[in-house]
Amino acid sequence: MTSPSDLSAPDALHPVAMTVNGTAYTLEVPARRLLSDALRHDLGLTGTHVGCEHGVCGACTILVDGQPMRSCLLLTVSMDGAVLTTVEGLTEEGDRLGPVQQAFKDCHGLQCGFCTPGFLTTITAGLEGNPDPTHDEAREMIAGNLCRCTGYQNIVKSVLRAAEIRREGGSA
Ligand code: FES
Ligand code: FES
Repeated sequence: MTSPSDLSAPDALHPVAMTVNGTAYTLEVPARRLLSDALRHDLGLTGTHVGCEHGVCGACTILVDGQPMRSCLLLTVSMDGAVLTTVEGLTEEGDRLGPVQQAFKDCHGLQCGFCTPGFLTTITAGLEGNPDPTHDEAREMIAGNLCRCTGYQNIVKSVLRAAEIRREGGSA
């Protein structure tokens, strides 16, 4: 465990052991390293996008121990022992699209796609908590994520379609 006094030297490196998409990693990172940067630059998982870097847009959302969190607001050193899922981890065995990915494809839930990874992770967690959302609940589920391209209608449709795919027990 890293103590606050260890973190005072800005260039000192700190070991962090975490599991990302089922693979165990140990990183050596400065105390200030944001999780979004560690994922993208240290692990090469560039599916996690960075928009505002202020916790507003949701593009950087990943799952930390199953809960959606803004990776731009987390320090990597705080992730020791955590189990993370990024958008890359939503794909199923044999490169089959996961239910939310498939639903976005089916319902044209993306345009430029910049916001999409954050929506996919947010909705994945949301459907764990509420597998059969109403239209309003689907809207509420995505209320914390911003998209500059779409009117959200197709994203809401994608939430409902993903729920349907999950209930059918598959990805298509
Ligand atoms: S980049 Fe993290 S919320 Fe916008
Ligand atoms: S599809 Fe372009 S920002 Fe959402």
